[in-house]
Amino acid sequence: MANYIFYLHLLSLLSFTLAGDSSTTRDAAVLLRVKTTQLSDPDSMLNDWLESTSSCNWTGIKCNHQTLDIISIDFSDFGNLAGPFPADFCRIPTLRNLSIANNLFNGTISSTSFSLCSHLAFLNISNNFFEGKLPEFMPRFGNLTVLDASYNGFTGEIPPSIGGSSSLQYVDFTSNYISGKLADSLTNLTELKVFLAPFNPLAGPLPETIGLLKNLEIFRISSTNLSGKIPDSIGDLASIQSIDLSDNALTGVIPVSIGRLKGLKYLWLYNNILSGEIPDVFGNLTSLTHFDVSQNNLTGKLPVSVAGLHLVSLNVNDNRLEGEIPAVLSSNDKLVQLKLFNNSFSGTLPENLGKNSNLEEFDVSSNQFSGKLPENLCYKKALQKFICFNNRFSGEIPASCGECKSISYVRISNNEFSGEIPASFWSSSELQFVDMSGNKFHGSIPGSISKSLTKLAISGNNFSGELPAAICKLPEMVEMDLSDNQFSGALPTCLTNLKKLEKLNLQSNKFFGEIPKAMSGWDELSSLNLSNNQLTGEIPNQIGDLPVLNYLDLAGNLLSGKIPATLSKLKLNMLNLSNNNLEGKIPTGLDSEVFVSSLTGNPKLCSQDLKPFRKCSKSKSISYYLVGFLSILAFFLIASLLWVVVKTKLFRRSKSLWKITSFQRLGFKEQDVMVSLMESNVIGMGGSGKVYRVTLKTGQTVAVKKLYGVHRGPENEAEFLSEMETLGRIRHKNIVKLLFGSVGADFRALVYEYVENGSLGDLLHKDPKGGFLLDWSKRYEIALGAAQGLAYLHHDCVPSIVHRDVKSNNILLDEEFRPCVADFGLAKTLQLEVKESDEPMSRVAGSYGYIAPEYAYTMKVTEKSDVYSFGVVLMELVTGKRPNDASFEEHKDLVKWVTEAALSSSENQGDGGWVDLDQLIDPKLNPSGQDYEEIENVLNVALQCTSAFPINRPSMRRVVELLKDQSRTPTK
Ligand SMILES: *[C@@H]1O[C@H](CO)[C@@H](O)[C@H](O)[C@H]1NC(C)=O
Ligand SMILES: *[C@@H]1O[C@H](CO)[C@@H](O)[C@H](O)[C@H]1NC(C)=O
Ligand SMILES: *[C@@H]1O[C@H](CO)[C@@H](O)[C@H](O)[C@H]1NC(C)=O
Repeated sequence: MANYIFYLHLLSLLSFTLAGDSSTTRDAAVLLRVKTTQLSDPDSMLNDWLESTSSCNWTGIKCNHQTLDIISIDFSDFGNLAGPFPADFCRIPTLRNLSIANNLFNGTISSTSFSLCSHLAFLNISNNFFEGKLPEFMPRFGNLTVLDASYNGFTGEIPPSIGGSSSLQYVDFTSNYISGKLADSLTNLTELKVFLAPFNPLAGPLPETIGLLKNLEIFRISSTNLSGKIPDSIGDLASIQSIDLSDNALTGVIPVSIGRLKGLKYLWLYNNILSGEIPDVFGNLTSLTHFDVSQNNLTGKLPVSVAGLHLVSLNVNDNRLEGEIPAVLSSNDKLVQLKLFNNSFSGTLPENLGKNSNLEEFDVSSNQFSGKLPENLCYKKALQKFICFNNRFSGEIPASCGECKSISYVRISNNEFSGEIPASFWSSSELQFVDMSGNKFHGSIPGSISKSLTKLAISGNNFSGELPAAICKLPEMVEMDLSDNQFSGALPTCLTNLKKLEKLNLQSNKFFGEIPKAMSGWDELSSLNLSNNQLTGEIPNQIGDLPVLNYLDLAGNLLSGKIPATLSKLKLNMLNLSNNNLEGKIPTGLDSEVFVSSLTGNPKLCSQDLKPFRKCSKSKSISYYLVGFLSILAFFLIASLLWVVVKTKLFRRSKSLWKITSFQRLGFKEQDVMVSLMESNVIGMGGSGKVYRVTLKTGQTVAVKKLYGVHRGPENEAEFLSEMETLGRIRHKNIVKLLFGSVGADFRALVYEYVENGSLGDLLHKDPKGGFLLDWSKRYEIALGAAQGLAYLHHDCVPSIVHRDVKSNNILLDEEFRPCVADFGLAKTLQLEVKESDEPMSRVAGSYGYIAPEYAYTMKVTEKSDVYSFGVVLMELVTGKRPNDASFEEHKDLVKWVTEAALSSSENQGDGGWVDLDQLIDPKLNPSGQDYEEIENVLNVALQCTSAFPINRPSMRRVVELLKDQSRTPTK
């Protein structure tokens, strides 16, 4: 290598001195020298940089057509070019443009080497891994017009010397770690048209003289820590079109001077601490289309002048505004988004609102509005979000909303609405979310309801009549609350067809008849409340089989018969069977102090010793014991039968060298696999054994996990094989397929399909480029897929399977980075195998950093422990840190770190500002603007999953819903 470089030098020296057009040759030599000594080019993008051809024809190089001088080096989007900042390219005196955006360049840029580049006109180094202080702009960068340093890791302040680059028109510092105050010298850049510095920890006030930037068109410093007042001189930005200072800590009033900015289209000041009134003179901003001053401390009224502008969006929510909404707002023919919520507005809304524009989002919730809603809210058939809860609106819902096919999200609870809901409203095909509770509506539910409904809450009204069969044909329904109405008739047995239903509340109606018995469809039902109706008959046994039910209230009915013993199988947080006609012995498991209040008001119930229930009579207990004796007898019979079966099977199998359970139609024999378990094929090693990668003659590749520490013996073998059988039956796109399990002479082996891209853990924490490969959308898909796999194990397998060792190393990624959960249920098998002593729990279940806190005292692993571990994996995906990253202080882990950061951010900013989010996010991630919302959502889910108390953690099924769906969370 060294010889080669030397040879090139010599050669360039020679041609330089001998050839006529010396500058061209010299510049080509510069290019080659930088390429060979500084650049890493793993994809061979620069392979055509050969001395035998003209450098003007090389990839990435552009020359002046006449002079053939090199004027541009453009490596943008090559992707994998790496090395330090190639300042030496700037030794080419004719170079005008240097662009290396979207590569893997790293390190600091020294002021000395940067000074070589002072003649450039265009410099783009965005989206690399540069760090350290921004270099000085010395000597003067007099020709620089475009500077893009966005999405790097630069720290420190913006050097004041940048003020000498008087030709600058475009400056972008988005998403770095640039801190400190903005230098006053920035306002010398009078040619500047665009200045972007959002997502940096900038602090202090804006320069007083900001108004000197007469050519500035776009000014964006959102999500930083800017404080102080907005300078009055901002009104001198004569060319400005867009101002975004949202998500900072700016105080004081909104300068009246902004009213002079005739060309202003976007004004975003939301999420600051601004006070005072919205200036009346803003009525002069005739170009303004987007106005957002929400989440401040603004007082006073919405000025008539502002309401009269032709705004597309008017967002003033979360302030302390009051008074009426000016009628002129309804003449606006552009209005699409109107957010007035969480203020103290009062009076009626303008009568013609919605008549003149394509209104899509209408949110006036939590104010003191009264009177009727505007009749024409959905006149243009565009309304999607119809939100006005917590006001005093009265009258019927507007006729136009009845005919509104676009409407999807309706929250009008806690008003004084009355009348019937138009049948056409119920059947609007986009309708997903309806909360109309706490009004005075009457009438019945019609026979046709939108199939998209996920939530229907109409409690606390005067609805009546029987439930139509249509109520059972809602495939997406998750939560149904019809409580506190006058519904009557029998419960439709078809309610159990609602496969996604999680909560059903029918309490305090007039339902009669029996509780449906066939409940196999309610796999996701966690809460069932049928209390205070007139239900009769027995409590169905089947309730005890509902896999995730944890809230059951059947109180205040006329239920009779015995309490099914199956109820004690449920993991209940709440049980109420009081005030019925139940009788007989309270089943074991429920005869405890905890349940006394759940069972009172059933005079015929009895118990052996639970007060205040009467003692059960002898004769009953004899029959009870008899039943017990018979079941034990039956159990022994079946057990011995099974034993015989197992024995015979084993006997037959022991003839072959390996004993196999195979679950798939295989194109190969197990022997093909076993002979390939050689050291050279080892791809991983763990506590339990080695993992081999084996390519078979058929071309198929499989992964073989060979387990040691085998405790031998026929019982153990049977157990292993039957467990393998359970695991082998699992079919899910996000679960690694187990092809077969095999028992050899001194080991056991599990043969899986091979998953191409290794584990998530390795990619995130070991592969230097891994974090970079996984952009946010990939990480999100991994989170969702893995959650679906785990939800399947917990909720869809019979018996349900607790993974016991959820961690990023057990989430494998295929060639398209789709996740597959691996190694599930195994810890249990292994525990049985390693019990040298008779201590079953000597082995810790799970991996360090992922273990739920309750394990320390319960020593039990439940579904909720998996949920905790999965929460840790979500945090890894967002932060890129290991659960026990070396950067944490002692006694701190990823969960503590993220939780503390989230707490402090909510204290400082109301609801998790982006600045703090940026401190948490993996620096390799470079999320885009829209990603932040999703990242915030994922972090929130992670926080719920890692709650200290298992009961507060959502089920895996709920986790899937939470990850998928942000629209279901209320807008506020
Ligand atoms: C670049 O290559 C083309 C053919 O590929 C050739 O015609 C042209 O002369 C080359 N330009 C220079 C400056 O060598
Ligand atoms: C730049 O990246 C390379 C490859 O990942 C690494 O070896 C080197 O240490 C990095 N340089 C700096 C200054 O961080
Ligand atoms: C700016 O560019 C012009 C040619 O376009 C050149 O003459 C001048 O020297 C450059 N100035 C600097 C400071 O590099």
